[in-house]
Order: sequence, then structure tokens, then C-alpha cells
Amino acid sequence: MRHTRIIVTHYGGPEELRVIEEECPEPKNGEVRVRVLAAGVSLPDIMAREGVHPETPPVPFTPGWDLVGVVERLGDGVSGIEPGQTVAALPIHGAYAEFVCLPQRELVPVPSGLDAAEAVSLVLNYITAYQMLHRSAKVRQGQRVLIHGAAGGVGTALLQLGRLAGLEMYGTCSSRSAPAVSDLGGIPIDYQLQDFVKEIHRLTGEGVDVVFDPIGGTPYGKNIRPSRKRL
Ligand SMILES: NC(=O)c1ccc[n+]([C@@H]2O[C@H](COP(=O)([O-])OP(=O)(O)OC[C@H]3O[C@@H](n4cnc5c(N)ncnc54)[C@H](OP(=O)(O)O)[C@@H]3O)[C@@H](O)[C@H]2O)c1
Repeated sequence: MRHTRIIVTHYGGPEELRVIEEECPEPKNGEVRVRVLAAGVSLPDIMAREGVHPETPPVPFTPGWDLVGVVERLGDGVSGIEPGQTVAALPIHGAYAEFVCLPQRELVPVPSGLDAAEAVSLVLNYITAYQMLHRSAKVRQGQRVLIHGAAGGVGTALLQLGRLAGLEMYGTCSSRSAPAVSDLGGIPIDYQLQDFVKEIHRLTGEGVDVVFDPIGGTPYGKNIRPSRKRL
């Protein structure tokens, strides 16, 4: 059986994406062949395609950080999973393909009836956001947090999970994204027109408990003011 997948042979823009046809991969011992229903397109995918992400694979490679698909064939030594079952995975690369073989231990069951394209949006962005909130910062109800890039994939996930955790949230974004940040329970701060440090102090009086900064660069140091109790 043949299938198609997308490869990057030179790092660069979307024009570097190529579609190739080849024999379908066979699952090895402990692996499962998954028919991909939906693959995410995230900023890390784009950065890998451009060759600037720290986890960029060497070329040629198939992009695709996360996927939702259907179990199609079991390799030797696989049990407890059936063909036809819907699963999610986070292979980091390889998901832009019709079929992909993955170790069984990397597959997570997906409840039936969910739309695959909606479900895949939860995988990379929400795992990242969950870990930032609950494993790194260990936030507690009532804490005040500042989320940079609040309108992005990770930022909106942080807002939704932060709302469930009972946080008071502020989020930097451009003016066009402010309504989206407000709708998700954040107080928007326009990073293009406002100094976020001054604005946070104006809004809160004393700063915040936690800052999530996926942007980095020069403004990064402005997140921490050791002389203040908070930000
Ligand atoms: N996606 C993931 O799950 C994941 C996992 C690990 C790490 N990361 C890293 O997290 C970062 C964000 O990824 P993402 O997927 O959320 O990206 P994204 O969806 O492209 O969102 C990035 C957001 O950043 C905003 N932005 C740009 N410059 C800004 C600035 N100076 N201050 C505040 N906001 C600014 C933009 O907002 P406006 O539209 O409002 O301008 C945009 O919505 C990347 O560095 C990525 O590598 C992401």
C-alpha cells in the first residue's frame, strides 16, 4: 500500500514543503500504524521547518508535532489496543503524513465522537500550558498571573486553563487580539502601545505572582523586579 507524506529537504518557508509518495511504513515490534486524521500546525512546526527550533530534526524530515488518528495496524508485541480506536500522539515530527508508525506507549486514547481537528488543537498547546501552570509555576487559586503572547496558541490555552484554576489573569497582545483575550477571562495589555510593566503596576498596584513569557528577547528581563514584592 502506498501513502503520501510531506517532507522538508531545505529549511525555509512554506515553499520548501514537498509532497512525496512512497510505500506505507510497516509497524515494528511494539509499534502501531496510525492513519492520521488531523495534524496540528503550531509555531514550533513553523520554526522547525525554518530550521530555528532547538529540536529541529536534520533534513530531510516530515514536520508535524502532534496528531489525532485511527489505529490501523498493530506490530508484533502490541496488545490492549484495537484497530479502529482513535488516538492522539505528540511525535514532535512526522505527523504530516497519511500514515505514521509510533510506539504503542506514545498513544493516548481519544474519546469517540470528537472532531479530530478540534481534538488535535488540545495536544501540544494544552500540554505545554498545563505543564507551565501546574508543574513549573504550581499556581494556586486566586494568584495573579501575567501571560505574554496571550492571544497565541499557548497563550489562549493558558487563559482557558488559568480560568479553570481560578487565577486573576493579565495578557499582553496586540489591539486586534484584545477581544479574544477578554473573552477568555484575561485583562488585555497592548504590548505595541503600552509599557507592560507600568500597566501591570497601574492595574494591580503591586505586580503579579507568576509571569509566563514564551516571547523572550529584550523585554524578558522586565518581567522581574527583585525590589518589589511581586513583578
Ligand atoms: N505551541 C506550543 O505548544 C509550544 C510548545 C512549546 C513551546 N512553544 C513556544 O511558545 C512560543 C509561543 O508559541 P505559540 O504556539 O503560542 O505561538 P503563536 O500561536 O504564534 O502565538 C504567538 C503570539 O505572540 C504574540 N506576540 C508577538 N510578539 C509579542 C510581544 N512582543 N509581546 C506579547 N505578545 C507577542 C502574538 O500576538 P498578537 O497576535 O496579539 O500580536 C501571537 O499571538 C514559541 O516560542 C514556541 O516555540 C510553543
